[in-house]
This record gives sequence, structure tokens and C-alpha cells, in this order.
Amino acid sequence: MANQNVKPAEGKLGIMVVGLGAVTSTFMVGVLMARKGLAKPVGSMIEYDKIRVGKGDDKKYLKYREVVPIAELKDIVFGAWDVYPADAYRSAMYAEVLKEKDIEPVRDELEKIVPMKAAFDHNFAKRLDGDNIMVGKTRWEMVEQLRQDIRNFKQENGCDRIVVAWAASTEIYVPVYEPVHGTLASLEAAMKADDKEHIAPSMCYAYAALCEGAPFIMGAPNTTVDIPAMWELAEKTQMPIAGKDFKTGQTLVKSGFAPIIGTRCLGLNGWFSTNILGNRDGLVLDEPANFRTKEVSKLSTLESILVADKQPDLYNDYYHKVRINYYPPRNDNKEGWDNIDIFGWMGYPMQIKINFLCRDSILAAPLLLDLCLLSDLAARAGRFGIQRFLSFYLKSPMHDYTQNEVPVNHLFQQYVMLKNALREMGGYEADEEID
Ligand SMILES: NC(=O)c1ccc[n+]([C@@H]2O[C@H](COP(=O)([O-])OP(=O)(O)OC[C@H]3O[C@@H](n4cnc5c(N)ncnc54)[C@H](O)[C@@H]3O)[C@@H](O)[C@H]2O)c1
Repeated sequence: MANQNVKPAEGKLGIMVVGLGAVTSTFMVGVLMARKGLAKPVGSMIEYDKIRVGKGDDKKYLKYREVVPIAELKDIVFGAWDVYPADAYRSAMYAEVLKEKDIEPVRDELEKIVPMKAAFDHNFAKRLDGDNIMVGKTRWEMVEQLRQDIRNFKQENGCDRIVVAWAASTEIYVPVYEPVHGTLASLEAAMKADDKEHIAPSMCYAYAALCEGAPFIMGAPNTTVDIPAMWELAEKTQMPIAGKDFKTGQTLVKSGFAPIIGTRCLGLNGWFSTNILGNRDGLVLDEPANFRTKEVSKLSTLESILVADKQPDLYNDYYHKVRINYYPPRNDNKEGWDNIDIFGWMGYPMQIKINFLCRDSILAAPLLLDLCLLSDLAARAGRFGIQRFLSFYLKSPMHDYTQNEVPVNHLFQQYVMLKNALREMGGYEADEEID
């Protein structure tokens, strides 16, 4: 029952990623290996999950691609920008996430993915000192150069469509500043005036992508597209935006575990989350101004699931703390600890401990794949602006806070939203059941 309103996924899809670090190189290697039948894209819901359509005797369980037209892995072409000049092969080797034997079979293809010069400002990530950057450009000149990069890439690779995703380092925290971020006109004026304080380099990428007719995904917690000016641009260009921050390890656990406490009507006194992490992401986040961006994103999860106003006896004033500690020996193999102080019948206290020994980029790569492919789908379905159905994949899902809209962080509500949007785009009826 293909919906006539969704354009088919014909031709090549260019996935241009900002940042060719651990996540991006792991993602690219995996897609190229899967394409050759040498690895399995585990964790990608597009590749594995099924959606029920219809009810009773008519019910069927279909793969996402059987419900809606989604680009095939073989049609993807990769591009990237990075502060460092290493190609995707060298970047994957440097990251040490994957073993050499899992990288070598696609070495030739990886070596051809050479990062373009980054739109970068050292003040937004002080721990980085690469020289593959645009030199002496104002914010507006960065935008123009990035737009040219996208056009060139599209033409040289014969791409039908482009998606731009940010998987670069977390920038310093840029709070929403109404006089600049409030409207598209004020944002453009600030870019032209080279306002380096309020215009983060990531905003130049997003602005360029949307103007070139490409959806934009924010995989870090940066404010970038989470401002009214960008929502206006997304509406003007009729392009989808998604963000913020890939929901990979600890926050995935949190958004899945908090509903257990909430649905059982148990109380919460405190939730302490800490991590050790030793990759370049960890190094950048060791800088307090960069960590602040992450902290804001990570803290938002619990408050919208266990809500004090709705259950004052259970969730009044709980203590929620998140820490990330840079610890080089672990590299990409992050270890997270959660200590949860709950209380039950008559207020008696109990504790839950969760120790997650994860691999950051192994968890993030399939999210990046699904987000890119589903944003491309959304664009072909004529959807634009914030794509709330992608909240499932994101730590701090975007929502229109100027209209008092609240984010949906509850993992299972997010799952219903995701499946219903796909059902709707596929011409099927939405429903609330989880199966
Ligand atoms: N891995 C996870 O589980 C996870 C989860 C959520 C979010 N993230 C976010 O994803 C991002 C990437 O993570 P990673 O582990 O790959 O980090 P990484 O440090 O390995 O890679 C990031 C790359 O971005 C580049 N970069 C920085 N600023 C840039 C700019 N302005 N233009 C172009 N390139 C730029 C850096 O040079 C670096 O190579 C981080 O922001 C991280 O916080 C990761």
C-alpha cells in the first residue's frame, strides 16, 4: 500500500557528515562492509525491526522498507568535513574502535573519503588543533563555502539527494539568545556581521545544508538547529531537521529504565550517573564549557519522564547528577555507572545499580545510519521542520519550547511515535499498541 505522496528513493543519496572521527568512521566502515556482505548492520532498526500494520486477521509485520521507500545501503555515497586531514581509513585506524581485519576489506573506498576543510573556530573546541580548516573566513563566508562544497559534492558524485549530519565534537554551550536566534532575519544579520559569539560553526553547516535542500541532523548536544531562527529556515526551505545528541548508552538505559519506576509508581530520591571515557570526544568534553552542553542534554531526560508536578509524592525534588570523566586507557570503550535511589511502600528506600560497559561508536553508528535514511525519507514525504518522530534516537529531542511543547523522552512513547509516523507515511492507520 505505497503512499503516492512519498517520492521514491531513486538515485544516489549523498550522506555528508561533519566530523570524520570515531563515530563517523565506524559508521562508514560498517555500511561499506555490510554492502559487501562482510558484516551485519546490527542495531539499525531499518535493517532489523518490523512494524505491525493492520489488526486482527489482517495484521502483518513488515520491515520498514516494506512500509515506506527508504534508500538502500548500496545507493549511499559518503562525504565529510573535518579539522584533521586524515581520510576515512586513517581515521578508522586512529579511532581504534574496529579491528584492522574489519577495516582492510574496504580500505580502497575509505581512502577516497577525504575530508573537506572544516568551518571551525578554535574557541568552540579548544582541545582541537587540526589545520584542515577554512582560514580567515567570516561566518557568512563559511556558509557560502559550505554551500559550494555541498553543490560540488552532489554534482561530482551524481547524487540525487543529500543529507547533512553533525557527528563532530561537541561545541561549547551556546545558550539561546533571542536577539540573534529568535528569527531567521536576525540570524542572517548576525552571520553577515560575523558575530562569533552567537553563531557557532555548526550553525553555518546547518544553514548551508537547509539552503541547499538537504535535511540536517544534529548528533551532538549543540544548540545549532534548536532555535526558532532555524525552525523558520526549515519551514522556508521545506526541509526536515532532527536533534539533538545521539541516544547511545547511559541515556538509552535511562529512558528505558525510568519508565519502569514511573509505571510501577515507585518513588525516586536520586539518580547519579557517571562515566569514564577516553576517546577524542572524552577529551573535548573534559573542557568544562563543552561539558556544559552535554550536561544540559543529558539532564533533560529524567525530568520529562518522572514529573514532580504530576506525582509530587513520588518525584518531588529528586537529586539528578551526570558526570563524564576523561580517562584515556579506556578509549572508545566507555563505562557508565548509574546509582538509583528509589523508595517503595511507606517510603522505604532501595537501590538499583547499573554498570554498562559499552562501546560508544558501536552504539552510535546505527543511529547515525537510521537518522540519515529516515530524514531523507521525511524530505521525500514532504515533512519539514522538527521531526519529532525521530526522538527515539535522540538524547534531548527537539520540541517547540516557545509554544510550551514538552519533549517526549519516554523510550516506549518514542517508539510508538516512530512507528506511527512510518505507518502514516506508508499509508497505514496509526495506533497505540506496542508489539
Ligand atoms: N559515541 C557516542 O556514543 C555519542 C553519543 C552521543 C553523541 N555523540 C557525539 O557525537 C560526536 C562525535 O563523537 P566521536 O566519538 O566521533 O568524536 P571524535 O572526537 O572522534 O570525532 C569528532 C570529529 O569532529 C571533528 N570536528 C570538530 N569540530 C569540527 C568542525 N567544526 N567541522 C568539522 N569537523 C569538526 C574533530 O576534528 C573530530 O575528528 C560528539 O559530539 C559526541 O558528543 C557521540
